Formats: sequence, C-alpha cells, structure tokens
Amino acid sequence: MSYTQLPIFDQSGFVIVDSYEQEADPREWENLVFVDWKSSGDTRFAPLASAYGDMECDGFWNHTPPKTDKDGVWVQQNIDIAPILTRRAREVGANIGRCRVIELQPNTYADAIYNLHRDDNNRLNPEGTGWIVRSFYNLTDNPDSMMILREDLDDPSTEVRVPLPAGAQVVIDTQRLYHAVWHPGDQPRYCLITSYESGPELDAWISTRNPVTVIESPFMDPAEIAQGNESAMNKRAARAAARAESGSDSESSMEVLSEA
Ligand SMILES: [Fe+2]
Repeated sequence: MSYTQLPIFDQSGFVIVDSYEQEADPREWENLVFVDWKSSGDTRFAPLASAYGDMECDGFWNHTPPKTDKDGVWVQQNIDIAPILTRRAREVGANIGRCRVIELQPNTYADAIYNLHRDDNNRLNPEGTGWIVRSFYNLTDNPDSMMILREDLDDPSTEVRVPLPAGAQVVIDTQRLYHAVWHPGDQPRYCLITSYESGPELDAWISTRNPVTVIESPFMDPAEIAQGNESAMNKRAARAAARAESGSDSESSMEVLSEA
C-alpha cells in the first residue's frame, strides 16, 4: 500500500514540537458538550469535528455512507463554545478527520499498559493519498502524566514516555505505535486530539516548530515497569480467553480500550 508519509516519522513514529502557551488561554474545554461513547467509564469525548457534524464520536467508517478519517464536519455547538481550540486545529491547514477533546480520569501505569492499542486511522483511506496521523495537544497541566508509546506491545524496552505538561504538542503515527496515557493524580486530564492527512501542510507546520523525534523518558523504577507489564499481559490474556469462550472476535462486544 502506498501513501504519502512524512519522513520525519520514520525514526520513531512520533514528533514532539514546541509547546503552546496553553495557560494564557481560557479553559474552553470546561464548557464543551461531552458524549459517552463506548466508554468503560474512564473516558468521555467532546467532538469538535465528527463524520457528519453530529454530536457523536463514532469511527467515520461506522456511518452511512462510511468514510475514512478525513473531511470531518465541524460540530457547530462545540466549535461555538471553543473557538480557540478550533482555530488551533485548523491552523495546521491539513485535511482534518476527527477532532475532539478527550477527558481521561486518573489511572495507573498498569491500566495504561493494558490500554495500549493502535488506531485504525487509515481504514478506507485511498492509496496514493496522505497517511493519517494524530496530534495530541495537552490542555490541562499534567507534568507527571505520560503518553506511553511502544513499537512492540509487550516489550517495555521499546517504550517511550512523553510528559504532558500544559501546552505539550505531540504528533503520532497512531496506526504504527501502540499508545495510551498514564495519568496519575486526582483530576481528569483534557487533551485535544485531531486526525490529519500527511502532506505538505502538516510537514510545514511540524518543521517550523523545532521537531524532536527522540527523547529520554523520565526515569521509572524497573520493578514498577515489570509489574505493570505483567499485570497488563495477564489481563489481556484473560480478555482473549473470554472472547474465545464467547465465540466472539468482535471488539465491539467487549470492553473498549481507553483512548489516549
Ligand atoms: Fe488511539
């Protein structure tokens, strides 16, 4: 399959760019309309752009007619509430698919490892067009929370942990990298997630913001990593067994993993 992909993602599958001065802006996300979507209780979403402009967050391919994660339609009620977030999403200039604010409740490292997943952004995406990647703009100040990225789901040696202070901006090939957020604390975290089509507009936006593709992860006790990894692997195995027993291979009939 051949798509336009940006070379800057080759090395690690993610790019961190200059932080945005988030704390100078009003907290628009506090007034947005959030919808429950296949949530196990730890996440909710407020759509700014959805498949057809409705207040919902389902995958674009689950609509009639189905579409790939491009050409999102703005959700008027929420973009009226959050003009700055909308402007920031549009500023990139690339084709936008889904665009939404996530609310994530506090969790543990083991929860996050269990939640690691890859996205299906490019389902129905026509070959010869741009590969879809996702940006994550952290809105709340969560310097102790981490975007956890892994090339290999079960292998902690492939793990990168990106701290999420207010204004952190990370663009991730979420179909390549397993990802989830570890969010300790006692308040929910809010983040703007946008799907973009790779192409010259996204390339220009990234390249003018001092992109970094390799970081040293903040230190973590190896025992805590091993413990979290084992707990997640055991839960994953139990889930697979339950699914096999119920004769279902459908993700939709099972617990849905938490987005990042
Ligand atoms: Fe995801």
